[in-house]
Amino acid sequence: MEKYLEIIEVHGREILDSRGNPTVSATVTVKDRESGRCLQGMAAVPSGASTGQFEAVELRDGETRYFGLGVQHAVKNVDEKIASVLVGENALEQIRIDRILRETDGTDNKSNLGANAMLAVSMAVARAAAEALGLPLYRYFGGISPRLLPVPMMNILNGGAHAANTVDVQEFMIMPAGAPSFKEGLRWCAEVFHALSSLLHEKSLTTSVGDEGGFAPELSSDEEAIAMIIEAVERAGYTMEKHFMIALDAASSEWKCTADCFHEDTMATSSGQMLYHLPKTGVDYTTDELVKHWICLVKKYPIASIEDPLDEEDWQGWQKLTMELGDKVQLVGDDLFVTNTNRLQRGIAQGCGNSILIKLNQIGTVSETLDAIRLAQEAGYTAIASHRSGETEDTTIADLAVAMNTGQIKTGAPSRSERVAKYNRLLRIEEELHG
Ligand code: PGA
Ligand code: ZN
Repeated sequence: MEKYLEIIEVHGREILDSRGNPTVSATVTVKDRESGRCLQGMAAVPSGASTGQFEAVELRDGETRYFGLGVQHAVKNVDEKIASVLVGENALEQIRIDRILRETDGTDNKSNLGANAMLAVSMAVARAAAEALGLPLYRYFGGISPRLLPVPMMNILNGGAHAANTVDVQEFMIMPAGAPSFKEGLRWCAEVFHALSSLLHEKSLTTSVGDEGGFAPELSSDEEAIAMIIEAVERAGYTMEKHFMIALDAASSEWKCTADCFHEDTMATSSGQMLYHLPKTGVDYTTDELVKHWICLVKKYPIASIEDPLDEEDWQGWQKLTMELGDKVQLVGDDLFVTNTNRLQRGIAQGCGNSILIKLNQIGTVSETLDAIRLAQEAGYTAIASHRSGETEDTTIADLAVAMNTGQIKTGAPSRSERVAKYNRLLRIEEELHG
């Protein structure tokens, strides 16, 4: 008979994330029916700032406490509605548990129970099960498959909605693609981070950091940011392309605009193109112009990956860009796919992008997240495990990246403990896997 880890208690609480905003944490207690032993799993959910329109709903109280951002209703849903349907269930049956959560919620976007409430419990169930089996989380998720440590996509320069500066691209990242191990790659990145710090200091630019720990200086253009990163890489003793590649997250869904905010008269909307207004530099692009912009940038700089280069609804633009650059550059759908298999399926069918960003709280359960990774990998798309700009000390994504051999992880700068916690977790996993 299969082991039965009976869920005996589900408890939620309101905690703080790295921006000082409330988020949901859950503790699930299970009892091994065979041995009578009780064990707990605890998890905390992250929260985004440049949130995609098609993400599952994060339930917020909207009351005066925490300026509307409280999550007491979501916590109450954990303690009452969710606990009442999960107590007695077997924690080893993650797929069934996530299905019960979805059925209890009863909506397409998880707005009833809240994706934050559901995910906290879904993750805590997995942690409790792994704990009871005496397995690290990556083993519990991945069985005998885990073998690949991810290359970090390390955000060292912030703009967009994550920083109060003049840069429109949200994230400038370095990827130590030439590193022989995770540990070495992490060291290389941290050294470049410090080289960038001294470079900024010399130029009398601020070394204060954005939400994901990267620097947020006042620069005149995205190209200046790229040039600065290349200089930092060289100053740290590394060579672009041999050691490092650059990755960008444009987060361009934040740039969408209507014809009246576009400064020039345009026929573009009638030809099905979207309009983009870069809020900080004030530059405007039609879809075609933005596609051209990315093509030029990729010709000029060693860019390996661009996330959300076009809006979450600009399927046509994605198709064009993928046709132009898809065989040279990783084109990552974050807001476009929102870790949702339906949206990913549409992207695969229409040839939009070649990679998906994986964020557990965009979809709201562990098993749906694993489904999205599998679907991507089967279709030849890469999948990248990712943090959110609002994070906690929870390190589930580190284990998830290794469990699913995603080969890449995006979890911020080597500064701020909520980011570094994931890197440190990966160092421990690398030691376990490779000795
Ligand atoms: P978010 O940003 O967590 O604020 O959505 C991260 C990203 O866009 O990748
Ligand atoms: Zn993104």
